[in-house]
Amino acid sequence: MPERSVLRFGDPRLLQVSEPVSNPRSPELLALVADLWDTMEARGGVGIAAPQIGVFLRVVVFGMEHSARYPDAPAIPRTVLINPDIQVLDPDTETAWEGCLSVPGLRGRVTRPRAVRYSGVDLRGEAIDREVDGFHARVIQHECDHLDGVLYPRRMTDLSRLVFASEMKHMAKEG
Ligand code: NI
Repeated sequence: MPERSVLRFGDPRLLQVSEPVSNPRSPELLALVADLWDTMEARGGVGIAAPQIGVFLRVVVFGMEHSARYPDAPAIPRTVLINPDIQVLDPDTETAWEGCLSVPGLRGRVTRPRAVRYSGVDLRGEAIDREVDGFHARVIQHECDHLDGVLYPRRMTDLSRLVFASEMKHMAKEG
């Protein structure tokens, strides 16, 4: 399955709200998910949403054992999540650096709820229902935002913390 090109910040299609998947077990969806994994892995991401490759369906994939991009991040199980729903479990927030394959080269400090519950189905149509916190909670919130046309810079409150990844060293103390 091929790596696909990724829409970049500024492309108006990234602002679109994606449609629910009617049949999670279709061959078309299986092919889409294979392309999402290939595209994510080729670019070293930890998650990607279908609209980022121009398919406006509510599908995200994420997870990794270890990420060169986020070397201190704990492992997240590799997950295909279709028609996701997210509920905030803990209104306390955390602020951390995020990047996005659609915003290449940049990182930003984003504040998000610390813990969430997410649910949806996998490619077999079986239910997924998890309670997570920390980096895992951040990744799923970031990916699901794409399904509603939201990119992380819109979640930022301090744009002085939108920087090139190569300059993050000046802000290392912010963790
Ligand atoms: Ni992203």
